Amino acid sequence: MIETLPLKAPDPLLKIIKMFREDPRTDKIDLGVGVYKDASGATPVMRAVKDAEALLLAQQKTKTYVGQQGDVDFLRLIGQLAFGEMARDFVSIQAVGGTGALRLGADLLRESGAKRIVLPQPCWPNHPSIVRAARLEPVDAPFFNIAEQRIDMDALIGAFDQAERGDAVILQACCHNPLGADFSIDQWKALADALNARGLIPFLDLAYQGFGDGIDEDVAGARVLLERVPEAVIAVSGAKSFGIYRERVGALFVKTAETSRPAVMSNLAAIARANYSMPPDHGAAIVREVLSDAALRASWREELDHIRAHIKRTRAQLAAERVNSLPMHLIALQKGMFSTLPLNGNQINVLRETHGIYMTDAARINVAGLREADIPRFVEALRAVA
Ligand code: LMR
Repeated sequence: MIETLPLKAPDPLLKIIKMFREDPRTDKIDLGVGVYKDASGATPVMRAVKDAEALLLAQQKTKTYVGQQGDVDFLRLIGQLAFGEMARDFVSIQAVGGTGALRLGADLLRESGAKRIVLPQPCWPNHPSIVRAARLEPVDAPFFNIAEQRIDMDALIGAFDQAERGDAVILQACCHNPLGADFSIDQWKALADALNARGLIPFLDLAYQGFGDGIDEDVAGARVLLERVPEAVIAVSGAKSFGIYRERVGALFVKTAETSRPAVMSNLAAIARANYSMPPDHGAAIVREVLSDAALRASWREELDHIRAHIKRTRAQLAAERVNSLPMHLIALQKGMFSTLPLNGNQINVLRETHGIYMTDAARINVAGLREADIPRFVEALRAVA
């Protein structure tokens, strides 16, 4: 049986990592996978993370299981960071990365009777796969005009009509991947009204808190929405904000009526148990240590501020360039790691093959991975193709 399995197409993002690695050119530029790089092109371990790891190594007395829900102090602290006081009323469970949290959320929605998940397009390329793996139907919704680099709220809200009560809509809380285009507070209010009117559940994906305008600023809109809706599912990733990508730190939060919370918790526990049983400890313990110790927390915030300032500076430098037809100036207005350029497949291929510059097949660039020293060559290559 197993020998008859057909070959699967490689993941569109992970494929770029492989192509980049296999390119022998020493001046190649990696704008593919979403990882922050400093001026030297390295992705360093944050100081607070190193310090927290030293504490854990010295103090940890056991490696026995943490428990089904995971590290409850981690959940309380990361929940507060994201949602403030509201988090106290949310059901929460630790997850294996933000992706694991999304999968838990999708499975929970299916168990609750959802049939479809609306995906504003273009979306993170893994969102449709997660939705399908949870045996839900992904429904595409127009969302962003790439040529004009503009959110189309009317088209997005209009597309909600393709879903039915109890279905969900994935909305990225901040620093949209792949667009860098975030909703304004008024747009979040309009989304809450539209979701409530149709009985749809917001399924928020929060993966880049602190990469846009600041820890609190980046979640202000999502909090406005969460205050207004009766139910919500929220997947949180700690990978980027703490620079601990490979530790797979995530959490799922659910807003629902108090009487429903025990049932939600029991369903999440059952989904997790049948999947990976209990969550890993190390990454969540790092986040717990960093957020609970005043000095580590201050050190982490300072380094995150530095990362954000670096990304903003790169955005400003790109926006100052003129590249034929490309709307470069709008890159400065976008947030977080990513922007998507209006380039076609042929242009993307020429950038890869002739110039050694790697972006995704959909022309997403990881602004946070672009070294200052590479900006002139990147801009020259863009001028050659666009
Ligand atoms: C990305 O979009 O590049 C990251 O979220 C990494 C991933 O897993 O795709």
